Amino acid sequence: MQTIHSLDPLRSAVSALREGGKTLALVPTMGALHEGHMTLVRAARAQADHVAVSIFVNPLQFGAGEDLDAYPRQLARDSALLEAEGVDLLWAPTIEAMYPAGFASNIAVAGVSDGLCGAARPGHFDGVATVVCKLFNQVLPDVALFGEKDWQQLAVIRRMARDLDLTRPHVTHILGVETVRESDGLALSSRNAYLSPQDRQAATALPLAMRAAIAAIEAGALVPETLTTLEARIVAGGFASVDYAELRDADSLVPLDARIAGPMRLLVAARIGKARLIDNMPVAPTA
Ligand code: PAF
Repeated sequence: MQTIHSLDPLRSAVSALREGGKTLALVPTMGALHEGHMTLVRAARAQADHVAVSIFVNPLQFGAGEDLDAYPRQLARDSALLEAEGVDLLWAPTIEAMYPAGFASNIAVAGVSDGLCGAARPGHFDGVATVVCKLFNQVLPDVALFGEKDWQQLAVIRRMARDLDLTRPHVTHILGVETVRESDGLALSSRNAYLSPQDRQAATALPLAMRAAIAAIEAGALVPETLTTLEARIVAGGFASVDYAELRDADSLVPLDARIAGPMRLLVAARIGKARLIDNMPVAPTA
């Protein structure tokens, strides 16, 4: 595996990997890799001849008071994990390579960035869209893979790629990979490490309550009442509060107060102990 920190060697390495019409998949990450990331890497292997992973802790997506300085940086450990998984290229740009002096651009994706996690983290999705656009232009992958766990992020990236024509010879395909869950249903997240053993046990209330709400909506229950019951169940299960619990159009993220004929998503963020957990699940459309 080649590890590259600046742009010119990256361009040469990408050209070499693409020789003979070989295809390239990109898994963008901020490092501190866990099983969820490794699932993306394995899925990438099935999509292309070569796999590149980027590791860059992107300051543009951290707000004031968020944990940018405390964010774990473990390049040696991450690099060993990727090497063992057969990754071909690790793109770990320096801050100067990503944002040279005078960098002044910003990509704001209206609509899909609003509300949900965008409400609690103003500017976060601008930072994500800006860095992902740069990563696409730098690595020029045929396919890029993101976890469905961050559904709003995936929707923002898809909208941005469509709007900015990041199609061949850039990214032809943005693939969402299904959330990896513990055996009790809790979505895998680096934030689960913040949970005490007691909170970890209680946290399973989140996916359980979401599945019950989805079953109710699919059986014809009214959406606003079901969402109120969902919030009450999450709090009764041991969560301190619910930031949001919403039914949205899966693609545009337009809020819905009734079931529709197209793909929908139930999205929740809730706080327990020191953690703010997010989750989302599909809701079957009406026939
Ligand atoms: O999901 C992440 O790890 C980050 O938001 C991403 C997509 C790598 C952009 O920095």
